[in-house]
Amino acid sequence: MKKLTITFLQGDGVGPELIDAAKKVLTAIEHRFGCDFFYNDMLIGGAAVDKTGVPLPDETVAACRESDAVLLGAVGGPKWDSLSGHLRPEKGLLSLRAALELYANVRPIVMYNELAACSPLNEQLTKKGVNIMLVREIGGGIYTGERGYRDGAYGQEAYDTERYSISEIERIAKLAFEVARTRNKKIVSVDKANVLETGRLWRATVTLIGSSYPDVKLEHMLVEDCAALLAKDPSRFDVILTSNLFGEILSDQAATLTGSVGMLPSSSLGLSKVGLYSPIHGPQTELAGKDAANPVGMLLSAAMMLGQSLDLVEEGAAIESAVRKALARGYRTPDIAVGKKITQLSCSKMADEIVNIILEKK
Ligand code: IPM
Ligand code: MN
Repeated sequence: MKKLTITFLQGDGVGPELIDAAKKVLTAIEHRFGCDFFYNDMLIGGAAVDKTGVPLPDETVAACRESDAVLLGAVGGPKWDSLSGHLRPEKGLLSLRAALELYANVRPIVMYNELAACSPLNEQLTKKGVNIMLVREIGGGIYTGERGYRDGAYGQEAYDTERYSISEIERIAKLAFEVARTRNKKIVSVDKANVLETGRLWRATVTLIGSSYPDVKLEHMLVEDCAALLAKDPSRFDVILTSNLFGEILSDQAATLTGSVGMLPSSSLGLSKVGLYSPIHGPQTELAGKDAANPVGMLLSAAMMLGQSLDLVEEGAAIESAVRKALARGYRTPDIAVGKKITQLSCSKMADEIVNIILEKK
């Protein structure tokens, strides 16, 4: 079998511990299925700033481009908060998205039954469940628009610009409609069309793309209504399609409903063949070095990577199933340690149990 190169970007905070967990689990997958991975570690974020002076060294970009897939921990932390914008750890990730031409960030936001007690939703709502595919545009929007400082009417001011081209909206809308076809064929497209020009262009363009997908039900929603409805009845949503900034905010809100943001993975896909996978939470600096993070978001990201970028669908499903079994057996990291008959485990021990389950004789 061909050796597949996976580039690991540990980054900051709990990133290194999570990447350790992912390596253990991927090694178990190699043992069980006989696939062959080459592990390549590269720098990004604050860790890269400390060692090289920049958040995304050229060697990292080159290694990512040459690999079959990239798995990222997280970037950022208070240590680097005073750096200027282009040197911040987050800029490393933003530049990597640009270098790999990633424009679609797909976040499956799923609540596991076992974790209902961790959810802020009431019992009635947890029974209805949460199973949303959030498709967030990550190539454009206010993240990439013109920005800076200038003299304004009230003195010195800062500005950032929301911008979208029709073609950028078209490509993410198409992807969301394709995703919807694999699910319940319902999209809510979220914008701010009552105020923003970009919102109106977004709405018109998504509507136009929708006309080629008559089998998918399209609904438009203002971002504030979406935020409210997520809190009131998340089971209303199947696929959510939205812009870079709104997606960033709504995905954390939706993730919180599932019981712990630590459970959730994401994939970022684009024009190049290399996909970037990472948990949706950030560096969780307060947990760093304590072996207390939840590795599941990272492990499910690795599962998505196997299925989507490496054509190892059965192998990815094996990780997902091992995660489910670990939860069913009561294994919990501190963030989800609620309820009776549970065993609280550290990050590394949770990964070890998932490894054991992957290697169990059938
Ligand atoms: C995310 C992160 C990033 C974002 C940061 C680290 C640049 O929060 O991927 O959710 O805002 O997109
Ligand atoms: Mn985020």
